Amino acid sequence: MNKDAASSTAVGAAMLRAAHQVIDGEYKLLDDPIILKLIGEDAVAHICERRNDFYFPGILAMRTHIVLRSRYAEDCLKDAYDAGVDQFLILGAGMDTFAYRQPEWANGLMIVEADHPASQVNKLEHLTDAGIAIPENVSFVKVDLEQDALAEIFKNSKLNLNKPVFVACLGVLVYLTKDAIAKIFKFVGGLPKGTEFVFTASQKRTGPWSAKVAERVAKAGEPWISHFDFDEMEKQLKKSGFSQVIFVSPAESKKRYFTGAKLRIPPPQRCSLVRVIV
Ligand SMILES: C[S@@+](CC[C@H](N)C(=O)[O-])C[C@H]1O[C@@H](n2cnc3c(N)ncnc32)[C@H](O)[C@@H]1O
Repeated sequence: MNKDAASSTAVGAAMLRAAHQVIDGEYKLLDDPIILKLIGEDAVAHICERRNDFYFPGILAMRTHIVLRSRYAEDCLKDAYDAGVDQFLILGAGMDTFAYRQPEWANGLMIVEADHPASQVNKLEHLTDAGIAIPENVSFVKVDLEQDALAEIFKNSKLNLNKPVFVACLGVLVYLTKDAIAKIFKFVGGLPKGTEFVFTASQKRTGPWSAKVAERVAKAGEPWISHFDFDEMEKQLKKSGFSQVIFVSPAESKKRYFTGAKLRIPPPQRCSLVRVIV
Protein backbone atom coordinates (compact mmCIF):
# COMPACT_ATOMS: atom_id res chain seq x y z
CA MET A 1 0.00 0.00 0.00
CA ASN A 2 0.98 3.63 -0.45
CA LYS A 3 3.20 4.55 2.52
CA ASP A 4 1.69 8.00 3.04
CA ALA A 5 -2.00 7.37 2.44
CA ALA A 6 -4.53 5.80 4.79
CA SER A 7 -5.99 2.53 3.53
CA SER A 8 -9.06 3.11 1.41
CA THR A 9 -9.97 -0.58 1.63
CA ALA A 10 -10.22 -0.17 5.42
CA VAL A 11 -12.83 2.51 4.80
CA GLY A 12 -14.52 0.28 2.18
CA ALA A 13 -14.76 -2.60 4.69
CA ALA A 14 -16.17 -0.16 7.27
CA MET A 15 -18.81 0.95 4.76
CA LEU A 16 -19.94 -2.63 4.22
CA ARG A 17 -20.14 -3.31 7.96
CA ALA A 18 -22.17 -0.11 8.24
CA ALA A 19 -24.42 -1.15 5.35
CA HIS A 20 -25.14 -4.38 7.24
CA GLN A 21 -26.42 -2.30 10.16
CA VAL A 22 -28.48 0.03 7.99
CA ILE A 23 -30.01 -1.96 5.14
CA ASP A 24 -29.97 -5.63 6.11
CA GLY A 25 -32.99 -5.54 8.38
CA GLU A 26 -33.58 -6.69 11.91
CA TYR A 27 -31.45 -9.84 11.96
CA LYS A 28 -27.72 -9.25 11.94
CA LEU A 29 -24.66 -11.42 11.78
CA LEU A 30 -22.63 -8.68 13.46
CA ASP A 31 -24.18 -6.12 15.77
CA ASP A 32 -21.99 -3.08 15.28
CA PRO A 33 -23.84 0.20 15.99
CA ILE A 34 -20.56 2.01 16.70
CA ILE A 35 -19.41 1.67 13.07
CA LEU A 36 -22.14 4.17 12.12
CA LYS A 37 -20.69 6.78 14.44
CA LEU A 38 -17.17 6.01 13.28
CA ILE A 39 -17.84 6.49 9.57
CA GLY A 40 -20.08 9.50 10.19
CA GLU A 41 -23.45 10.79 9.08
CA ASP A 42 -22.51 11.59 5.48
CA ALA A 43 -21.28 8.07 4.84
CA VAL A 44 -24.44 6.61 6.39
CA ALA A 45 -26.57 8.92 4.22
CA HIS A 46 -24.62 7.72 1.16
CA ILE A 47 -25.45 4.09 2.03
CA CYS A 48 -29.14 4.94 2.38
CA GLU A 49 -29.24 6.88 -0.91
CA ARG A 50 -27.36 4.19 -2.84
CA ARG A 51 -28.85 1.19 -1.06
CA ASN A 52 -29.65 -0.63 -4.32
CA ASP A 53 -25.96 -0.63 -5.27
CA PHE A 54 -25.25 -2.50 -2.04
CA TYR A 55 -27.37 -5.42 -3.27
CA PHE A 56 -25.22 -6.13 -6.37
CA PRO A 57 -24.20 -9.80 -6.04
CA GLY A 58 -20.49 -9.01 -5.73
CA ILE A 59 -21.08 -6.37 -3.04
CA LEU A 60 -23.45 -8.67 -1.17
CA ALA A 61 -20.91 -11.50 -1.20
CA MET A 62 -18.22 -9.10 -0.02
CA ARG A 63 -20.53 -7.86 2.76
CA THR A 64 -21.05 -11.42 3.97
CA HIS A 65 -17.29 -12.01 3.89
CA ILE A 66 -16.56 -8.87 5.90
CA VAL A 67 -19.18 -9.24 8.63
CA LEU A 68 -18.65 -13.00 8.89
CA ARG A 69 -14.90 -12.70 9.45
CA SER A 70 -15.40 -10.22 12.32
CA ARG A 71 -18.19 -12.24 13.91
CA TYR A 72 -16.22 -15.47 13.71
CA ALA A 73 -13.03 -13.91 15.08
CA GLU A 74 -14.96 -12.33 17.96
CA ASP A 75 -16.66 -15.64 18.81
CA CYS A 76 -13.27 -17.42 18.81
CA LEU A 77 -11.85 -14.60 20.94
CA LYS A 78 -14.57 -15.15 23.56
CA ASP A 79 -13.81 -18.89 23.67
CA ALA A 80 -10.08 -18.17 23.98
CA TYR A 81 -10.75 -15.64 26.76
CA ASP A 82 -12.84 -18.21 28.63
CA ALA A 83 -9.88 -20.59 28.28
CA GLY A 84 -7.56 -18.01 29.88
CA VAL A 85 -6.15 -15.90 27.01
CA ASP A 86 -6.35 -12.25 28.01
CA GLN A 87 -4.46 -10.43 25.24
CA PHE A 88 -5.93 -9.50 21.86
CA LEU A 89 -3.77 -8.25 19.00
CA ILE A 90 -5.53 -6.92 15.90
CA LEU A 91 -3.11 -6.82 12.97
CA GLY A 92 -4.18 -4.39 10.24
CA ALA A 93 -7.04 -3.18 12.45
CA GLY A 94 -8.43 -0.64 9.99
CA MET A 95 -11.83 0.54 11.23
CA ASP A 96 -12.37 -2.49 13.47
CA THR A 97 -14.78 -1.48 16.24
CA PHE A 98 -14.59 -4.38 18.70
CA ALA A 99 -12.67 -2.28 21.23
CA TYR A 100 -15.33 0.48 21.26
CA ARG A 101 -18.34 -1.80 21.69
CA GLN A 102 -16.60 -4.38 23.83
CA PRO A 103 -18.88 -6.48 26.01
CA GLU A 104 -18.30 -6.46 29.75
CA TRP A 105 -16.33 -9.73 29.72
CA ALA A 106 -13.73 -8.08 27.47
CA ASN A 107 -12.78 -5.49 30.09
CA GLY A 108 -10.24 -8.04 31.31
CA LEU A 109 -8.55 -8.13 27.90
CA MET A 110 -5.48 -6.17 26.86
CA ILE A 111 -6.37 -5.01 23.34
CA VAL A 112 -3.67 -3.82 20.94
CA GLU A 113 -4.63 -2.38 17.57
CA ALA A 114 -1.73 -2.50 15.12
CA ASP A 115 -1.89 -0.87 11.72
CA HIS A 116 0.03 0.94 9.05
CA PRO A 117 0.81 4.43 10.42
CA ALA A 118 -1.31 6.43 7.95
CA SER A 119 -4.33 4.14 8.41
CA GLN A 120 -4.00 4.38 12.17
CA VAL A 121 -3.83 8.19 12.12
CA ASN A 122 -6.97 8.20 9.99
CA LYS A 123 -8.78 5.91 12.45
CA LEU A 124 -7.74 8.00 15.44
CA GLU A 125 -9.06 11.11 13.67
CA HIS A 126 -12.37 9.35 13.00
CA LEU A 127 -12.59 8.27 16.66
CA THR A 128 -11.94 11.84 17.81
CA ASP A 129 -14.40 13.37 15.33
CA ALA A 130 -17.08 10.89 16.39
CA GLY A 131 -16.46 11.54 20.08
CA ILE A 132 -15.77 7.85 20.69
CA ALA A 133 -13.74 7.38 23.86
CA ILE A 134 -10.77 5.03 23.80
CA PRO A 135 -11.21 2.46 26.58
CA GLU A 136 -8.36 2.02 29.06
CA ASN A 137 -7.60 -1.51 27.92
CA VAL A 138 -6.88 -0.38 24.32
CA SER A 139 -3.53 0.75 22.92
CA PHE A 140 -2.14 1.39 19.45
CA VAL A 141 0.99 0.25 17.67
CA LYS A 142 2.21 1.51 14.32
CA VAL A 143 3.61 -1.23 12.14
CA ASP A 144 4.57 -1.81 8.54
CA LEU A 145 3.92 -5.52 8.14
CA GLU A 146 6.14 -5.60 5.05
CA GLN A 147 9.18 -3.96 6.58
CA ASP A 148 9.21 -4.27 10.35
CA ALA A 149 10.63 -6.95 12.63
CA LEU A 150 7.43 -7.95 14.42
CA ALA A 151 9.02 -9.38 17.58
CA GLU A 152 10.87 -6.09 18.10
CA ILE A 153 7.78 -3.97 17.48
CA PHE A 154 5.53 -5.96 19.82
CA LYS A 155 8.19 -6.40 22.51
CA ASN A 156 7.81 -2.64 22.95
CA SER A 157 4.01 -2.78 23.12
CA LYS A 158 1.72 -3.54 26.05
CA LEU A 159 1.62 -7.20 25.05
CA ASN A 160 3.40 -9.75 27.19
CA LEU A 161 4.95 -12.04 24.59
CA ASN A 162 5.61 -14.69 27.23
CA LYS A 163 1.87 -15.32 27.50
CA PRO A 164 -0.54 -16.54 24.80
CA VAL A 165 -2.16 -13.95 22.57
CA PHE A 166 -5.33 -14.09 20.49
CA VAL A 167 -4.43 -12.54 17.13
CA ALA A 168 -6.82 -11.47 14.38
CA CYS A 169 -5.72 -10.37 10.93
CA LEU A 170 -8.81 -9.86 8.79
CA GLY A 171 -8.73 -8.75 5.19
CA VAL A 172 -5.03 -7.96 5.31
CA LEU A 173 -2.88 -10.84 4.01
CA VAL A 174 -4.13 -10.47 0.45
CA TYR A 175 -2.42 -7.05 0.33
CA LEU A 176 0.94 -8.36 1.56
CA THR A 177 3.78 -10.20 -0.15
CA LYS A 178 4.30 -13.90 0.59
CA ASP A 179 7.53 -12.97 2.42
CA ALA A 180 5.67 -10.64 4.78
CA ILE A 181 2.98 -13.27 5.34
CA ALA A 182 5.63 -15.91 6.14
CA LYS A 183 7.09 -13.49 8.69
CA ILE A 184 3.67 -13.05 10.33
CA PHE A 185 3.09 -16.82 10.48
CA LYS A 186 6.53 -17.32 12.09
CA PHE A 187 6.00 -14.51 14.60
CA VAL A 188 2.54 -15.64 15.72
CA GLY A 189 3.45 -19.34 15.47
CA GLY A 190 6.41 -18.65 17.78
CA LEU A 191 4.22 -17.20 20.56
CA PRO A 192 3.43 -19.35 23.64
CA LYS A 193 1.17 -22.41 23.55
CA GLY A 194 -2.49 -21.44 23.61
CA THR A 195 -1.93 -18.58 21.17
CA GLU A 196 -4.66 -18.52 18.57
CA PHE A 197 -4.72 -16.78 15.21
CA VAL A 198 -7.81 -16.09 13.08
CA PHE A 199 -7.15 -14.64 9.65
CA THR A 200 -8.51 -14.46 6.14
CA ALA A 201 -6.59 -15.58 3.10
CA SER A 202 -7.51 -15.69 -0.53
CA GLN A 203 -7.56 -18.74 -2.75
CA LYS A 204 -7.04 -18.01 -6.41
CA ARG A 205 -10.18 -16.23 -7.60
CA THR A 206 -11.92 -16.75 -10.88
CA GLY A 207 -15.50 -15.35 -10.80
CA PRO A 208 -16.39 -12.23 -12.84
CA TRP A 209 -17.34 -10.13 -9.83
CA SER A 210 -14.12 -10.86 -7.99
CA ALA A 211 -12.21 -9.71 -11.08
CA LYS A 212 -14.18 -6.46 -10.90
CA VAL A 213 -13.52 -5.93 -7.19
CA ALA A 214 -9.84 -6.81 -7.75
CA GLU A 215 -9.66 -4.19 -10.47
CA ARG A 216 -11.28 -1.60 -8.22
CA VAL A 217 -8.94 -2.16 -5.23
CA ALA A 218 -5.92 -2.17 -7.54
CA LYS A 219 -7.01 1.20 -8.93
CA ALA A 220 -7.29 2.48 -5.35
CA GLY A 221 -3.60 1.59 -4.90
CA GLU A 222 -4.13 -1.58 -2.83
CA PRO A 223 -3.93 -4.52 -5.24
CA TRP A 224 -4.68 -8.08 -4.11
CA ILE A 225 -1.30 -9.70 -4.49
CA SER A 226 -1.20 -12.94 -2.48
CA HIS A 227 -3.37 -15.95 -3.21
CA PHE A 228 -2.85 -19.39 -1.74
CA ASP A 229 -3.20 -23.07 -2.34
CA PHE A 230 -4.62 -24.05 1.07
CA ASP A 231 -2.86 -27.46 1.17
CA GLU A 232 0.46 -25.66 0.78
CA MET A 233 -0.59 -23.07 3.35
CA GLU A 234 -1.42 -25.78 5.88
CA LYS A 235 2.10 -27.19 5.54
CA GLN A 236 3.58 -23.71 5.94
CA LEU A 237 1.48 -23.04 9.06
CA LYS A 238 2.50 -26.35 10.66
CA LYS A 239 6.17 -25.55 9.98
CA SER A 240 5.65 -22.12 11.52
CA GLY A 241 4.62 -23.58 14.88
CA PHE A 242 0.86 -24.12 14.71
CA SER A 243 -0.40 -27.49 15.93
CA GLN A 244 -3.98 -27.12 14.70
CA VAL A 245 -5.09 -25.65 11.38
CA ILE A 246 -8.81 -25.21 10.75
CA PHE A 247 -10.14 -23.97 7.42
CA VAL A 248 -13.68 -22.74 8.02
CA SER A 249 -15.71 -24.14 5.13
CA PRO A 250 -18.78 -22.41 3.68
CA ALA A 251 -20.86 -25.37 4.97
CA GLU A 252 -19.54 -24.86 8.50
CA SER A 253 -20.24 -21.11 8.36
CA LYS A 254 -23.72 -21.76 7.02
CA LYS A 255 -24.52 -24.25 9.76
CA ARG A 256 -23.06 -22.05 12.47
CA TYR A 257 -24.51 -18.68 11.48
CA PHE A 258 -27.00 -18.76 8.65
CA THR A 259 -29.34 -21.72 9.03
CA GLY A 260 -32.60 -20.45 10.49
CA ALA A 261 -31.08 -17.05 11.26
CA LYS A 262 -33.30 -15.04 8.86
CA LEU A 263 -30.30 -13.07 7.57
CA ARG A 264 -30.70 -11.02 4.37
CA ILE A 265 -27.09 -11.54 3.38
CA PRO A 266 -26.27 -14.84 1.65
CA PRO A 267 -23.99 -17.50 3.17
CA PRO A 268 -20.41 -17.54 1.87
CA GLN A 269 -19.55 -19.46 -1.28
CA ARG A 270 -15.87 -20.01 -0.67
CA CYS A 271 -13.49 -20.73 2.16
CA SER A 272 -11.36 -17.78 3.20
CA LEU A 273 -11.40 -17.92 7.02
CA VAL A 274 -8.64 -19.76 8.82
CA ARG A 275 -8.20 -20.49 12.55
CA VAL A 276 -4.89 -21.80 13.79
CA ILE A 277 -3.67 -22.65 17.27
CA VAL A 278 -0.11 -22.91 18.61
C1 LIG B 1 -9.17 -4.15 3.98
S1 LIG B 1 -8.47 -3.36 5.38
C2 LIG B 1 -9.06 -4.43 6.67
C3 LIG B 1 -9.24 -3.72 7.95
C4 LIG B 1 -9.86 -4.51 9.09
N1 LIG B 1 -9.03 -5.61 9.49
C5 LIG B 1 -11.26 -4.96 8.76
O1 LIG B 1 -11.54 -6.16 8.82
O2 LIG B 1 -12.10 -4.11 8.46
C6 LIG B 1 -6.75 -3.72 5.23
C7 LIG B 1 -5.92 -3.22 6.40
O3 LIG B 1 -4.57 -3.72 6.23
C8 LIG B 1 -3.67 -2.70 6.56
N2 LIG B 1 -2.40 -2.93 5.85
C9 LIG B 1 -2.20 -3.15 4.53
N3 LIG B 1 -0.87 -3.24 4.27
C10 LIG B 1 -0.23 -3.06 5.46
C11 LIG B 1 1.13 -3.03 5.86
N4 LIG B 1 2.12 -3.19 4.99
N5 LIG B 1 1.41 -2.82 7.16
C12 LIG B 1 0.42 -2.63 8.06
N6 LIG B 1 -0.89 -2.68 7.76
C13 LIG B 1 -1.21 -2.87 6.47
C14 LIG B 1 -4.33 -1.41 6.11
O4 LIG B 1 -3.80 -0.29 6.77
C15 LIG B 1 -5.79 -1.71 6.47
O5 LIG B 1 -6.09 -1.25 7.77
